[in-house]
Amino acid sequence: MSDEDDISQKTLAVHGGEPRTYPYDALAAPITQTATYSFADTAELIAYFEGRKDREEYGRYGNPSVRLVEEKMAALERTEDAVAFASGMAAVTSTILALVKSGAHVILFADCYRRTRQFVTTFLDRFGVSNTLIPPADVEALAAAIRPETRLVIAEAPTNPYQTVPDLEQVAEICRERKVKTLIDSTFATPVNFKPASYGIDIVVHSATKYLAGHNDVLGGVVAGKAGLVSLVRDLRSVFGAMPRPARGLSDPPRHQDLGASRRTAKRIGAGACRAPRAPPSGSPGVVSGPAISSQPRHRETADERVWGRRDVRGRRGSPRHQSLRRCVPNPEDRAESRRR
Ligand SMILES: Cc1ncc(COP(=O)(O)O)c(C=O)c1O
Repeated sequence: MSDEDDISQKTLAVHGGEPRTYPYDALAAPITQTATYSFADTAELIAYFEGRKDREEYGRYGNPSVRLVEEKMAALERTEDAVAFASGMAAVTSTILALVKSGAHVILFADCYRRTRQFVTTFLDRFGVSNTLIPPADVEALAAAIRPETRLVIAEAPTNPYQTVPDLEQVAEICRERKVKTLIDSTFATPVNFKPASYGIDIVVHSATKYLAGHNDVLGGVVAGKAGLVSLVRDLRSVFGAMPRPARGLSDPPRHQDLGASRRTAKRIGAGACRAPRAPPSGSPGVVSGPAISSQPRHRETADERVWGRRDVRGRRGSPRHQSLRRCVPNPEDRAESRRR
């Protein structure tokens, strides 16, 4: 990411999605703490229902303070729209449910967050949606796993907690050719470090609870992507009711974020994850590699340069840093002992 990108990113974090003025000339975004909204008269009500007036109707469907977060996130992810949720898991599950129906098949990279895996392998299964787990970052296994009824591929970049990053351009290309939608959970990167939609990924999900909010005082989720897809997910939020509460922390998480600190932390996490590696639960297939230590060249490039923003995170070959990162490659024998969060 160049300095110029950084500046525009910071500008977007402050001003993106924000109107020029707020009610009562407030300088900071007001928190609209209301469960429902009043209409001036029947004419306004009719105008709203006929789609001639754009406004809020009921708190489970929308809130101006939450809308602000959504517009800011769409600006930061460079997507057409975004929708916010009460938690990251509400965002993940609602998005998956919006995109599949009974008879469909879903592919999941095996080292995804365990609750997402649990949802796909146990919950979806009960509703007639089958699944295949593929080894971490293995795009060849992805291509081989696609069936005529495959509708969705789910990955994290980087994964929690193993920090693998599949080659997103390849993932997007393989899936686009086969008319399969792609979902990337980008929680660990945030749009400050990485924008999956710019690699052709259809839908980006975040647990805002983590680095996006950044202060451990917010539970939230965000889904960003093309307007049509986001609208399907928003419709489900209205049904399921996982609307976030309008509150200060949620209202401007990216604005509160110190972008420089976030990127520095991200790099440290990349290296730290290698210093204290954990292997996947026993039985998980495939390679395990932190973004800083992958043996796959394209993966390494994606991880180091695109996610953490630099090429030299592993250090020069033979340097103490390089040696210490090499030691972090998990040993297969350790796997049985390691437990995932
Ligand atoms: C990658 C990832 N996605 C989703 C979630 C779920 O987010 P939340 O705790 O906000 O529901 C988590 C939580 O740890 C996560 O790490």
